[in-house]
Amino acid sequence: MKVLVTGAGGMLGRDVVTVARGMSHDVVALSHDDLDVTDPSRVERTILREKPGAVINCAAWTAVDEAESNEQEASQVNAEGAGFVADAAAKAGAKVVYVSTDYVFDGTKSSPYTESDETNPVNAYGRTKLGGERATALVTKQSFIVRTAWLFGPQHENFVETMLRLGEGGGPVVVVHDQIGCPTYTGHLATGLLRLIDSSAFGIHHMAAEGACSRYEWAMEIFRQSGVVTRVLASTTEMMDDRAKRPENTALASGREAPIRLPPWQRGVADYLARRAQPPAEEHPRKRGSISRRQPVLDLRPKPEDVEEAAGQEAVPSEQEAEPEHEDRDEPGAHG
Ligand SMILES: NC(=O)c1ccc[n+]([C@@H]2O[C@H](COP(=O)([O-])OP(=O)(O)OC[C@H]3O[C@@H](n4cnc5c(N)ncnc54)[C@H](OP(=O)(O)O)[C@@H]3O)[C@@H](O)[C@H]2O)c1
Repeated sequence: MKVLVTGAGGMLGRDVVTVARGMSHDVVALSHDDLDVTDPSRVERTILREKPGAVINCAAWTAVDEAESNEQEASQVNAEGAGFVADAAAKAGAKVVYVSTDYVFDGTKSSPYTESDETNPVNAYGRTKLGGERATALVTKQSFIVRTAWLFGPQHENFVETMLRLGEGGGPVVVVHDQIGCPTYTGHLATGLLRLIDSSAFGIHHMAAEGACSRYEWAMEIFRQSGVVTRVLASTTEMMDDRAKRPENTALASGREAPIRLPPWQRGVADYLARRAQPPAEEHPRKRGSISRRQPVLDLRPKPEDVEEAAGQEAVPSEQEAEPEHEDRDEPGAHG
């Protein structure tokens, strides 16, 4: 199938392109420079010219905190731009995937959110993404709205890279323990998205790694698997200086009869670390981007009073626990 990818230079976009090419799809990879999704006439011209069978829209404003003071600009990309892409895809007779987020939920549910749960975003980013879901669904019935969460992937700064840098820098590393979600490896999600476009299961899908954890548990797993020994201090969201409010529990599950399941999040960490250790040629040199704009801004340098407060939750992986796992590391690739 001919697959057109917008936002192809982004963290997920890159992996969608890589996986699609690996599956022998005919891929049109369009980065922000190639196609600005906020320009409706260019979007339409490009998609009608390429005549793809499916469009995977990975273009987004992902700076969660910055969206608070720039909601209109974020909305132009995440909501209006999404509508332009979906509209052009419909005119071209193509299916369209809109990648959305767990942040459309308020995080107050005590069990994982399914597709039928009510949305109620608590920050500007979540509102703009919900706008994108609606704009997409409004213009075409041949759309997949895929909500995912806590992405980490190659060649972009992300939570795993931040943890490793801070851990290798001597720590201590301070991580919130009161945000629960599903850390999802982009390589796994990309595979899921490409399976989805082969189907006609249009509508909303929750597609995130199996299982859920706190950011603190995620950090501990990263250090355990990578063998980095550092002090990890549990903190609370309140102690962070984030501008945007973060929902507390946004674990995702699917209530669909035959959902596309992704591997467990721990497997995502393992596959990511393996790829990072053995980068394929095309992923050199590692791009040092700015810190992932989607993850909470963690000022991980503890204030003295915070460390004291969190001292009861300090954890140091033992040498034995810190042994990296070597099983199932068959995914090629690298990251930076
Ligand atoms: N990262 C996460 O944890 C996470 C979690 C849940 C859902 N998601 C969703 O997953 C999708 C992919 O996210 P990601 O993490 O891969 O984000 P990303 O790395 O920030 O990639 C987004 C890409 O979109 C491009 N872009 C921005 N404005 C654009 C425009 N007007 N026209 C065309 N391209 C534009 C960006 O280019 P520039 O950088 O050059 O502007 C960037 O390459 C997004 O829809 C996001 O909302 C992400």
